[in-house]
Amino acid sequence: MPLPVPVLPDGVDPAWLPEEAFRPVGGRRVLIRGSGPLVETVHGEVAEACARFGGALAEDDPELVLEATGDDGSEAFTLGRRDGRTTVTASGGRGLLYGFFHVVRLGEAAFQGERRAEEHRPASALRMLDHWDNVAVHPVMGQVERGYAGGSLFWADGRARGELERVRAYGRLLAACGINAVAVNNVNVHETEARLLTDRIGEVADIAAALRPYGIRTQLSVTFAAPIVLGGLETADPLDDSVRRWWAGATARVYEAIPDFGGYVVKADSEGQPGPFAYGRTHADGANMLAGALAPHGGTVHWRAFVYDHRQDWRDRTTDRARAAYDHFVPLDGRFAPNAVLQVKHGPMDFQVREPVSPLIGAMPHTALAVELQATQEYTGQQRHVCWLGPMWSEVLRFGPAAGRGFEELVAVSNVGDDPFWTGHPLAQANLYTFGRLAWRPDADPGAILDEWIGLTFGADGPAKELHAVLDGSWRTYEKYTAPLGVGFMVQPGHHYGPSVDGYEYSPWGTYHFADRDGVGVDRSSATGTGYAGQYATPWAETYESPGTCPDELLLFFHHVPYGHVLKSGRTVIQHIYDTHFEGVAEVEAAMAVWASLKGRVEPARHARVAERYEEQLRCAREWRDQVNSYFFRKSGVPDERGRTVY
Ligand code: GCU
Repeated sequence: MPLPVPVLPDGVDPAWLPEEAFRPVGGRRVLIRGSGPLVETVHGEVAEACARFGGALAEDDPELVLEATGDDGSEAFTLGRRDGRTTVTASGGRGLLYGFFHVVRLGEAAFQGERRAEEHRPASALRMLDHWDNVAVHPVMGQVERGYAGGSLFWADGRARGELERVRAYGRLLAACGINAVAVNNVNVHETEARLLTDRIGEVADIAAALRPYGIRTQLSVTFAAPIVLGGLETADPLDDSVRRWWAGATARVYEAIPDFGGYVVKADSEGQPGPFAYGRTHADGANMLAGALAPHGGTVHWRAFVYDHRQDWRDRTTDRARAAYDHFVPLDGRFAPNAVLQVKHGPMDFQVREPVSPLIGAMPHTALAVELQATQEYTGQQRHVCWLGPMWSEVLRFGPAAGRGFEELVAVSNVGDDPFWTGHPLAQANLYTFGRLAWRPDADPGAILDEWIGLTFGADGPAKELHAVLDGSWRTYEKYTAPLGVGFMVQPGHHYGPSVDGYEYSPWGTYHFADRDGVGVDRSSATGTGYAGQYATPWAETYESPGTCPDELLLFFHHVPYGHVLKSGRTVIQHIYDTHFEGVAEVEAAMAVWASLKGRVEPARHARVAERYEEQLRCAREWRDQVNSYFFRKSGVPDERGRTVY
């Protein structure tokens, strides 16, 4: 039985799967071979496309053959074309589904010329989105923590929303870019959310059922204190037998409800969440206890490495938040169970527009690692600004192997909500799509992924050149008008939107720039600073150690330098700050003009939404420019050598 394609609720944007994208497949004679649930998903897709575009499911003379030779869980597929016939072969339904969407991506090109059989297989087995969705509206964080796209797709006001057709449509979009796992609730697990693990697991099971036909396994964020808050035990000590038994029982019941459940995501001993430290145990003890409960069922625990002191004294200049994850976890290398994956933020701080790659990624060869990216634009314009993160992620993903060590899995914090455009800013869809494609192939050219997204979303005749221009440089533009040279933050405390140069300077969060009348930046060298640079392997430790070799874009992350310090670019630090802030605003103006010129060439609702957000981006970029430039002018007394207005 073909599985019907989900029907989008009225007014919801089809994102990268508009009907037109299926024309090349839908107009052809297609043969489907194989059986199993995911083959039925493909069958439904083809049937729908053919019904719309005049093709047919046909035994004879097919132009497209989609064949699953078995029913295993492999995600690989082979695509080839000979004698006027395009063939996708996979050893199971999962691979076939990805092969089908690959054909959709190729469009007409999939049906032209000859194509040598080519195997496609994902570089990492798990490509997960973490939703920071609360079940109940949180008094400070709202329905979705750091969410900029409306409410949650899964939850509203303390309950499952039950809009499973929309969840299905979401699963379809994710499958089409290669994502295969979703964690459905916030890593900060409040009381209502905690209950999803036990008496409310049925609500999670409904979501899992909607996502399953698209090859997506569901995961749950759980609280380490669950044995106490849900089980009535007196302790959550990971070495206590009653605690282990409680987790084993709770986990077995989860698997009764969701047989292909993926596992747990845990934020422990981090920003106030409970964890093993309370019992004098290590994070390996904590993670392994949960891994033990999941192992009999084939599940995995994702244990987050985001552990640091968020109650720092800003007067204490020896404590460095950037060091924390490495200091906590590297001594535990080799002590994690095989199904415990350490989930590491890509940088040592917190998803700033520019950070070095976390040194942890190179330093735990005996531990399974997942790199965590942030699609939700917490510090990158909150989906009011265009900021396509593809180039940044690509740099991060290429750095790992270059540093002598890769990672096993990729995770991103989701940027999706119940907004009709899914991501608030319609162009932020590109971030979600790019994450999926990079997770499948971390060495892919991000620019090519961007073009693929543009082609699917705006159609083969869309204004591809203009859209590429608007998005491609947008991350660097954002960097230019915000915190300079890797120093980070300078955002408004709490909500993290808009400039506040000293917003976190005297705070307990460990996020400082140390600007004074002579200079700016954080000395993280081994010789005179916090020693963070020494956490890297050769050659990076040496490269970052000295201001002479440290890359310009990270200079203030690693060093405190005088305003007159000359960068590799030839400019002084102070002049760089002035120049980039003027340039950043000018680039926003230019991008905005390009977008305005597309009126009539892109769908009106999308055009209007983006145009409106550009107004806000420009307002905010000017605010950033003027606050940052004035701040540094006032601190340093050095005028802009080009005489522009600094207040
Ligand atoms: C950031 C973010 C929090 C989030 C945390 C995390 O600090 O501001 O909202 O909970 O990251 O990754 O756990």
